[in-house]
Amino acid sequence: IRDDPQTASAYIAEYIIERIKTFNPTAARPFVLGLPTGSSPVLIYQHLVQRHKAGEISFRNVVTFNMDEYVGIPREHPESYHSFMYKHFFSHVDVRPENINILNGNAPDLEAECQAYEEKIANAGGIELFLGGIGPDGHIAFNEPGSSLKSRTRVKTLAYDTILANSRFFGHNMDQVPRMALTVGVQTVLEAREVVIIITGAHKALALQKCIEEGVNHMWTLSSLQLHPHPLIVIDEDATMEL
Ligand code: GLP
Repeated sequence: IRDDPQTASAYIAEYIIERIKTFNPTAARPFVLGLPTGSSPVLIYQHLVQRHKAGEISFRNVVTFNMDEYVGIPREHPESYHSFMYKHFFSHVDVRPENINILNGNAPDLEAECQAYEEKIANAGGIELFLGGIGPDGHIAFNEPGSSLKSRTRVKTLAYDTILANSRFFGHNMDQVPRMALTVGVQTVLEAREVVIIITGAHKALALQKCIEEGVNHMWTLSSLQLHPHPLIVIDEDATMEL
């Protein structure tokens, strides 16, 4: 628990830097980092970019996999997760373009796209550290309430609450928010060797309480993290309100 979103974000950014720096140089695989979008990770990306610009961390040998992407808006749309990632992170660091993996929400065959994504993750040696946030309904990536805890990368119809929450990025017009997304599954996240979650703000307090103090269940999909051997949830004071 940290005082505020700034200190929570700095803690996570430093944690990730440390993991990358101390990653076994003799491992036959690269450091594979799973990445989220949303407002919660923005300060983490800022911190990582600052430390990169100060010459303290390189992402040259890091392979990234994003969690999710909307279906049906162009990649160049300012609110696509592709645009988000370049705006907040990829354009400011030395990650190699060929090491960046983001689901293509405009692929002609969405199921094949999802299947290929899982294969790419496996071929990269699996995800070392998956960073994530949660929605106010406790969803991780776009694993909406009711998602199977065994789910893998797939097409998902967004819940009403998610469309409402994300409409703030689309001029508060729910009609503009895509109805579907591609998302890694709960199981895909759980297979990462380590999962790090940022949760800040009073509006996430109920979700945090449901996910860590109640049982594992498919309505609050982050609760599945209770089954993970190496989870880390970093929160601010405001998020503790319901604990
Ligand atoms: C979307 C993303 C999630 C993210 C959530 C919360 O639903 N698919 O990965 O955790 O938004 O976003 P925010 O951090 O803006 O509250």
